Amino acid sequence: MKRTITSLLTFAALLFGGLVGNALAQTSAPVAPATGERVAAAAAVATASPVKLTLPLKEGSVRFLVIGDTGTGTHQQHELADVMLRYRQSFPYEFVLMMGDNLYGGETPTDFKTKFEDVYKPLLDDKVKFYATLGNHDGSNQRFYQAFNMNGEEFYRFARGNVAFYSLNSNYMDKRQVKWLEDELAKDTAEWKIMFMHHPPYSSGGKHGSSSGLREVVEPIFLKYGVNAVFAGHEHFYERIKPQKGIYYFISGAGGKLRSGDVKKNSPLTDKAYDTDMSFMLLEAAGDELHFQVISRTGETVDSGVMMNQRKKAKAMNASNLTVSPIR
Ligand SMILES: [Fe+2]
Repeated sequence: MKRTITSLLTFAALLFGGLVGNALAQTSAPVAPATGERVAAAAAVATASPVKLTLPLKEGSVRFLVIGDTGTGTHQQHELADVMLRYRQSFPYEFVLMMGDNLYGGETPTDFKTKFEDVYKPLLDDKVKFYATLGNHDGSNQRFYQAFNMNGEEFYRFARGNVAFYSLNSNYMDKRQVKWLEDELAKDTAEWKIMFMHHPPYSSGGKHGSSSGLREVVEPIFLKYGVNAVFAGHEHFYERIKPQKGIYYFISGAGGKLRSGDVKKNSPLTDKAYDTDMSFMLLEAAGDELHFQVISRTGETVDSGVMMNQRKKAKAMNASNLTVSPIR
């Protein structure tokens, strides 16, 4: 019954062309700041919190996880990984997109082990693939590390079903990368075109904020070729940006670190933000819909909703072309 009500709400929201937060998520209680003793208290809660899935689990859908700024090896990162594992039992995601800063500090074999392999061992053992992008703390040689699936490239594309994923190196958005991106997008027939990179084109972070220079270069390309959604990290919190020129932007950079309270209050960019604990995102691409659910280290759902494929929507409305239409 609950799923039926949720579906009806979702359908109604889609009729109005909106990006909707799930009612359950909107009523979630705020989580205590992850500092000192409160961290231990929260960890105890994480162990006991039941899995509450808001994703539809449609047949044949593309299921994945997004996480960023993971590379610490701290017990908090392990706790978050435990929640990732628990949710996989209900939502069997195939792969993980890493938003960069995959390794803080050293990059010796021991660092790869303690800050990545040990943390995600159950997932790796279960053949979950990780696709990395390079952050400002990451050495370029990470592209040769097999478990990051970069195939020796600083920027690359892969696809699942009707979804194309582009990992961009936002540290150096030079002419070579721009040309590659345009060439790939020009011939890309995937219905969903999803970008992931470390630096966020839009952000309400107090410490960093929007990467404006990067945005000036990439946004016109995203618009020209109908990119649907963009995921980034760098900021150690979660933020769902209000759709910008018809494109959905997310920040998920609290996978290994937290910058508590860093999201500017009353930012005009923010649709939903969460900066009081670490988090990751679950995503499900099903036909014209891209569903998402954001989970905290305590196992709570802090945001969820569904996005409509912008170009499909334009077609359904008999638009004269298939350029990205504004969401709101
Ligand atoms: Fe960073």
